[in-house]
This record gives sequence, structure tokens and C-alpha cells, in this order.
Amino acid sequence: MKNKIRWGIIGTGWIADKMAEALTVVEDATLAAVASRAKGKSEEFARRHGVAASYGSYEEVAVDPDIDVIYIATPHPYHCANTLMCLRNGKAVLCEKPFAMNEREVLQMISTAREHGVFLMEAFWTRFLPSMDKVLELVASGVLGEVRHIKSDFGAVTGFDPNHRAFNKSLGGGSLLDIGIYPVFLTLLLWGEPDQISAVPHIGSTGVDESLALTFKYGDGRIATLFSSFTVNSTVESHICGTKGRLKLNRWWHCPVPLELTKGEEQPETIQFDYVGNGYNYEAEEVVRCLRSGRKESDILPLDFSLRLIRLLDRIRKEMGLVYDADGRG
Ligand SMILES: NC(=O)c1ccc[n+]([C@@H]2O[C@H](COP(=O)([O-])OP(=O)(O)OC[C@H]3O[C@@H](n4cnc5c(N)ncnc54)[C@H](OP(=O)(O)O)[C@@H]3O)[C@@H](O)[C@H]2O)c1
Repeated sequence: MKNKIRWGIIGTGWIADKMAEALTVVEDATLAAVASRAKGKSEEFARRHGVAASYGSYEEVAVDPDIDVIYIATPHPYHCANTLMCLRNGKAVLCEKPFAMNEREVLQMISTAREHGVFLMEAFWTRFLPSMDKVLELVASGVLGEVRHIKSDFGAVTGFDPNHRAFNKSLGGGSLLDIGIYPVFLTLLLWGEPDQISAVPHIGSTGVDESLALTFKYGDGRIATLFSSFTVNSTVESHICGTKGRLKLNRWWHCPVPLELTKGEEQPETIQFDYVGNGYNYEAEEVVRCLRSGRKESDILPLDFSLRLIRLLDRIRKEMGLVYDADGRG
């Protein structure tokens, strides 16, 4: 039997645990190594998930000849440097969202991947959920009529801690880059770049957007209203509204959940999916598929989409005057 694609993980936090769990249901993948800044943490993670190798530095996994692909699960300001280190060592990379802090960093990641001829993808897991393909299919089918409005929010109360990456500016804190990125992603996927943006943030005591209201306007009158927050328990739904009907992505819409289609004044119809795993397995499967077929990027989530997404996030941050340390580095 051929060897499975061998994964390494950098970082041992919340999302790293989810990916370790997800990889257990990806047939052609095995989690072979984990790296932490602290050896004790990687050993503990390795014990928890049955991983063979545990390293006390990120460099060690990047140079491990037995690893094919590395998943980057560190806070946003480290994504670029961690990714570059892996790419330069010939490792394929799946890097968490936001891909990096700004366009400059993303361009550097893309050019390094191309220069070294290695695979690179943003870990935008929602794009790979079966529900997202259904959304695209239903919108294209015309069942909603002309889609004129998108309403999407992601507000989840996160206990205030100035040192936590959600609030700490030096760790890339702020709702836009952490969770507001989902409504922005959905709108970009369906409609592309807006002609006008308005951004109304509430900047908290640590200098980052704790809440953010966004309006995107398109030349032909389409409007998206988007919201993100660490201080509000909002609906976490998305509504795609057309001239003939509405499609609702149910609560925790960025996760594997059902859709609800309403045609005109009819009763809503629920669309269920036979989801497998915790949902992070779908993006991992795409990476495996790409590696097996020698691709350097995904057709489903191409690097150009990630570049357009970070440009849009930069544009929104400019609108609200939010600057991070990474923006000053050149
Ligand atoms: N796709 C999703 O659904 C999803 C969900 C949550 C988060 N994320 C993304 O994943 C990334 C990590 O989020 P998380 O919630 O897993 O964060 P987390 O629980 O704080 O874990 C981050 C890990 O990064 C490492 N790290 C490196 N430098 C660090 C520093 N200066 N401060 C703190 N940790 C540092 C740490 O691992 P070691 O100590 O072992 O080195 C830490 O455990 C973020 O970019 C976030 O946007 C994505």
C-alpha cells in the first residue's frame, strides 16, 4: 500500500486540536509530527492525538524529511514567517485564516511558494463544506431570482482578556481578522469586490475592533450588510436574498450546518447534508487531492482568491483606520 500523505502541525492551540481530530477521518492522511515553542506542549499534544514525533521548535518540523505538508495553526502575525520557513524547506503548506496580516505578506507567501514550486493554500475551511457548493449551485440556478442583498454576521461573546489573541493587538487582535473575515469571504465569493465600503467599528481599550458593522455597495445597487463582534451573541447566520426567494445559512453558518431555502411566500425547506468528521477534514482532503495530483494550488480556493480577500480586508482596515505592526514592516 502506498504511504499516506504525512502531515505536521505548527502550534498546539485550539484549532490545532480540531485539525488533529479532523485528520483521523481523512483516508489518505496521517498526522506524523507536531511542533510547539515548548517541547512539553508538543509532547502532551502528541500523547493526546497519538502523534509519533513531537518537536520543541517550529524549525524542526519544517526540516523533517518525513513530512509532506505542514498546517500552520499559530496567531495571525506569525502566519507569514511560519509559512515562508516551511515553503523554503520544500514543504507544502496549509495556513490558517487570515492567510497573513496584509497584502504585502500574502504576496511574499505566494511568490515564495511559486519560486520553490510547492503547494500553498489558505485554510478557509468553510469554502470546502458541501453546504458551500450547494449555496453556489442554488444561487446560480436562479431559484432566488436576482440576488440583491446579503446579510451575514458572526458575533460570539469572548470573555475580555487583553492578553488573548482576540483582543491583543500584537497578536493580530480584532473581530474583522478573526471572525468578520467569514461574512467578508461569503460576500467576496458570491459578488466579488464591492464598489463602496463603509466600516463602523467599535474600537475597545486594546485598540482593536471589538465590534464592526460593514456595508458593501455594488454599482448596480446590490448591498451587503455584515457584522462581527466579540461582545455580542448575534445570530451567526447568513441570508442571501433575491427577488424570488431567500437562502438562509443556519446558525454557525461557517460550520457544517443545514441550509434553509424559502421560495416566495412558501414554507422554508430545509436542506440537510451528510457531513463527515468535524468539518476541517474537507479542506485537508482538498490538500491531499492537490498533492496527489501534483498541483501547486487548489482550483476551489486559488491563491488569487486569498489575495483578493486580504486586499479587501486591508481596504476595510484602511476605512476604519486600524493599523498593525506588520503594516509598518517592509
Ligand atoms: N478555521 C477556523 O475555524 C479557526 C478557528 C479558530 C482559529 N483559527 C485561526 O487559527 C489561528 C490560531 O488560533 P487558535 O484559536 O488556535 O489560537 P490559540 O489557541 O491561541 O493557539 C495558537 C497557538 O499558536 C502558538 N503560538 C505561537 N506564537 C504565539 C504567541 N506569541 N502567543 C500565543 N500563541 C502562540 C501556540 O502554540 P505553541 O505554544 O505550541 O507554540 C498556541 O497554542 C488563528 O490565526 C485563527 O484565526 C481558525
